[in-house]
Amino acid sequence: MVFEHFLHGGDYNPEQWLDRPDILEKDAALMKEAHVNCVSVGIFAWSHLEPEEGVYDFDWLSNIIDRLYQNGIYTVLATPSGAKPIWMSHKYPEIRRFSRNMTRELTGGRHNHCYSSPVYREKVRQMDTALAERFSRHPGVLLWHISNEFGGECFCPLCQEEFRQWLRERYGTLDALNKAWWTDFWSHRYTDWSQIEPPVPQGENDVHGLNLDWKRFVTARTADFVRMERDAVKAVNPELPVTINMMGDYAGLDYFRFRDLVDIVSWDSYPSWGRDADEEAVGQVTAFAHDLMRSIRREPFLLMESTPSATNWQAISKLKRPGVHMLAEMQAVAHGANSVQYFQWRKSRGSSEKLHGAVVDHYGESDTRVFREVAEVGRRLEGLDGVLATCPMPETAIIYDWENRWAVEDARGPRNSGLHYLDTVKDFHGAFWRLGIPTDVIDMTCDLSPYKLVIAPMIYLLRPGFAQRLRSFVEQGGTVLCTYWSGVVNESDLCWLGGMPGDGLMELFGLRSEEIDGLYDGQTNRLVPQEDFLPGRSYQLRELCELVHCTTARALAVYGEDFYRGMPALTVNPYGKGRAYYLAARGERKLLEDLAAALAGDLGLRPSLDAILPQGVTAIRRSGNPDVIFLQNFTGATQSLRLRRDYWNYESGAPLPRQLTLSPYQVLLIKE
Ligand code: GLA
Ligand code: ZN
Repeated sequence: MVFEHFLHGGDYNPEQWLDRPDILEKDAALMKEAHVNCVSVGIFAWSHLEPEEGVYDFDWLSNIIDRLYQNGIYTVLATPSGAKPIWMSHKYPEIRRFSRNMTRELTGGRHNHCYSSPVYREKVRQMDTALAERFSRHPGVLLWHISNEFGGECFCPLCQEEFRQWLRERYGTLDALNKAWWTDFWSHRYTDWSQIEPPVPQGENDVHGLNLDWKRFVTARTADFVRMERDAVKAVNPELPVTINMMGDYAGLDYFRFRDLVDIVSWDSYPSWGRDADEEAVGQVTAFAHDLMRSIRREPFLLMESTPSATNWQAISKLKRPGVHMLAEMQAVAHGANSVQYFQWRKSRGSSEKLHGAVVDHYGESDTRVFREVAEVGRRLEGLDGVLATCPMPETAIIYDWENRWAVEDARGPRNSGLHYLDTVKDFHGAFWRLGIPTDVIDMTCDLSPYKLVIAPMIYLLRPGFAQRLRSFVEQGGTVLCTYWSGVVNESDLCWLGGMPGDGLMELFGLRSEEIDGLYDGQTNRLVPQEDFLPGRSYQLRELCELVHCTTARALAVYGEDFYRGMPALTVNPYGKGRAYYLAARGERKLLEDLAAALAGDLGLRPSLDAILPQGVTAIRRSGNPDVIFLQNFTGATQSLRLRRDYWNYESGAPLPRQLTLSPYQVLLIKE
């Protein structure tokens, strides 16, 4: 889905200012001054849209959308289901969630409706339909913003019943469920569907299959609610696209399951800029999140929220240093965002977000540092229409899988003080990011065929069919790198019998894993290369060291210490036309970087920019016609690098000198 221009704007809450027409009028003028062309309206406006039951008042919204449109500003129209009006919450207590302690919540808050409540579903459906009838053909309305940041779970009797129903459909018989959940353990065998309760602290916690299925169910229930809202608005105008604003690597939802429910992915990004001496580490994890969000549909996405200055919910509200705002927003664009949207346009006057960063402060004028930096981003985006049809098209994929994460984090052993699955995935991603080699971040259900290289860290839980697809991928010439703690359990969290990694992966990697050593914090081992695949003489290992025996694989490196000294620590196995690497322990950053560089060199992976990138500087390419390369300096220092071929400045068209200098936090757009 491609818009004509980059969207630039953010969440706008005119309903908070309806008694201040002067402010609403000024907003439109300020938006133009800030080069804002798109705002999200109505996100939490239900009590103004339906002040009393059955009485809709849309005229104020209509005036706002009209005025914006007359000023050249588009509207992303939200359905208001993210926050329920107080009158509704009181009249229909059943729309409120049951929290984990199995009691119904009182009225208040947001993002806390029961996904199963027929009353709430019906109220939302009616509201969405009415909004669609009134606005979905308005020329100023671009996109539906369904609800807001779906998340959380409800434990009410209705949701429990839905869970049991979902289980019946998944397993068919109670016997199949008991087998899949291994309920003979501790005599937890169910003899009636009604005995199944969700996993809560005061109840059942030890049945891993139950825990995992509950999380799957929460995703399915949430998706079902999204589907209901999507269908309501699409029934009126199927042409108007739909999005939901996601939250990056938020633990609670498997976002890949929302791929076909939305026309475009959007997400809300709140990095802790300013946390470290330079922005490299924060830039790295933010790059991961952008890549993950883009990979859901493998096409450009929208940055739906980001803060123009600081949030007010992080531990420290650090201001962005001059230049960091441009860097942060252009980083999103570099990774495939076709918008830069903020939370929020104007600071609210009261309640919990009154001190959250906004384009317009309580001061109310445009002569502020934040406003100027926002306007500068807007001005720059106006010159980038040509970038909209481009997108990073990586040849490398990193597997990050929500179900795997849930299972890894639920398992007891081999290191309850931290297996660091997500960190490990991010570490691998970061190694490629620093080399300027673009990566997708996909889950085990995604197509592997676009890639030459697949990095599969800690694939503990193997989704059905994944191991087989990985084998075919390698057979046909692909390269895979997998690590310790892989192929341990199946999709029901039952351990594979007959050796690890299971489901045919022992054959793919040409080895068998026998034991895994959990190291205490501070304890280390060493990886000692045996061949010149890796340039270093030794690398530090920590946390998890797996003891593997090669069958057909060859050791590229061995352990340097302890009773397993000399045993394989890094192996390679030729398989079909491809190769399968196995890293048996958690390694230091340098090891992952050298591994990434060695694999990239072997496979001829194309870096985004032909240059050696200094520490803290990286590049990513959006492929298209022409390609656009985003060179980003995440440090507060001037950096220089040598280009190995001719390049031009994408924005000015001027040729670039071979010896290139980047100012602090600079983002340079380059074409070949
Ligand atoms: C989330 C929400 C917004 C706002 C911001 C504050 O992203 O969607 O409504 O609360 O956080 O950072
Ligand atoms: Zn419920």
